[in-house]
Amino acid sequence: ADAAARIDPHHAIGDIDRRIFGGFVEHLGRHIYDGIFEPGHPSAGADGFRHDVIDLVAELGVSTIRYPGGNFVSGYRWEDGIGPKEARPRRLDLAWHSTETNEVGLHEFQAWLDHVGSDLMLAVNLGTRGTQEALDLLEYANADADTAWTAQRSANGRPTPFDVRMWCLGNEMDGPWQVGHRNADDYGKLASRTAKAMRMVDPGLELVVCGSSSSGMPTFGSWERTVLEHTFDDVDFISCHSYYQEMGGNAQEFLASGVDMARFIESVVAIADTVAATKKSDKRIMISFDEWNVWYLHNEEGGQNDKPEERGWPVAPRLLEDQYHVLDAVVFGDLLITLLQHADRVRSASLAQLVNVIAPIMTEPGGIAWRQTTFFPFSITSRLAHGRAVRVPVTSDTFTSERFGEVAAVNAVATIDDEGVSLFLVNRSTTDAAAVTVDLAPLLRELGREVAVVESALLHDDDRYAANTLGDPFRVGVRALDGAAVAGESLTLTLPPVSWGAIRLA
Ligand code: AHR
Repeated sequence: ADAAARIDPHHAIGDIDRRIFGGFVEHLGRHIYDGIFEPGHPSAGADGFRHDVIDLVAELGVSTIRYPGGNFVSGYRWEDGIGPKEARPRRLDLAWHSTETNEVGLHEFQAWLDHVGSDLMLAVNLGTRGTQEALDLLEYANADADTAWTAQRSANGRPTPFDVRMWCLGNEMDGPWQVGHRNADDYGKLASRTAKAMRMVDPGLELVVCGSSSSGMPTFGSWERTVLEHTFDDVDFISCHSYYQEMGGNAQEFLASGVDMARFIESVVAIADTVAATKKSDKRIMISFDEWNVWYLHNEEGGQNDKPEERGWPVAPRLLEDQYHVLDAVVFGDLLITLLQHADRVRSASLAQLVNVIAPIMTEPGGIAWRQTTFFPFSITSRLAHGRAVRVPVTSDTFTSERFGEVAAVNAVATIDDEGVSLFLVNRSTTDAAAVTVDLAPLLRELGREVAVVESALLHDDDRYAANTLGDPFRVGVRALDGAAVAGESLTLTLPPVSWGAIRLA
């Protein structure tokens, strides 16, 4: 079917904050241990970090990495992870029913971030702990003063502050599964007084208050309103978390996931701005979409997969090791397009997660590391999307979603920077290819020069369930979008059904 689109630089959404290409590393399953950290692996350095994994994370292009959880943080004592390794305690991790060895803590994780070239975003424990422990961690990490905590930091090999700029005030505190789960009033009050105290240490911090664990939570909406009524003056961001999966073999419905994410973002923005209006404030709370991905969380019976309590208290068990196929990666690419379409208010986002645990990168102990299908849309979008995000109106076929009614088959967004223009597109149709004509006239007028296709990528496979595996790690990749070309004032390209593509014009 034919589709028409237009890139008009006047329809700018906003400047892209590079932090929307963030990631998330939790002490969970084989993420840290037997994932990024595997002393004895042939590629591991003296510090135990695997360099094959470091190279892949660097290639992925992740800006800021949220750490150390997730549900894990709500029972975590950060002091367990500092000081001489032989003195570090082993602890029960209630969130994932595992044993935490604490071989990796703040210092080691920062060393790994230095390897991959990403920035640290820390979460404090507001589940089993409170304001004082958050202050202790902040003082240890950021204070430039002579105190007991900074002396300990120096003794542990780090005289200069870590200088962590973004901090999450707990994790998913609305979720009954969360250790220390609270109602919105109780959490809002705790988050407010913790944020105020943290700003007394360092007024320039950027603070993220917990929004809902998903838009499907029974308290969604009222949670955001109540929490922001308590914390509006104290925080910069509210978090959104969302995971998607194909249910009941309904690929077409799964391909509408981007619509769900867009509605989620727009609802939270509306609530945040309503609270601003009631407070007669011009301040705009931004969104930190600090957990998003495809995750096969629910089984077909509606229960939860990966129930950790059935597995004892192991160290680094195989948990949440989802294998992603082409369809997952197309939905995933559409989620990235959706984040860019909201670049004015989504100023930070974290792909959950990075290695082995619902991850674009997988590892085998003692063996290889490989790219899952979702690796490709992330690495390409992160590399090509710079400058400002620009709305791309599309007229295309539609399909009927059970949840969202008529949904456009083709979705797109563009970004414009000093060197060129990038266009990201998805064809959500399970049946029809889309022959897309993109009107470049307004763009060419602004640029005052011609452009040509200098790079293109297509993620598609005739078998939409094809995946990369330990036995066949290069089964799925991207190839050039054959035939994509600029002629006169138009770009033309064809997207097969269930495909994601990117084009670079310069
Ligand atoms: O990313 C996996 C888990 O999903 C996180 O620990 C939690 O915050 C969310 O429920």
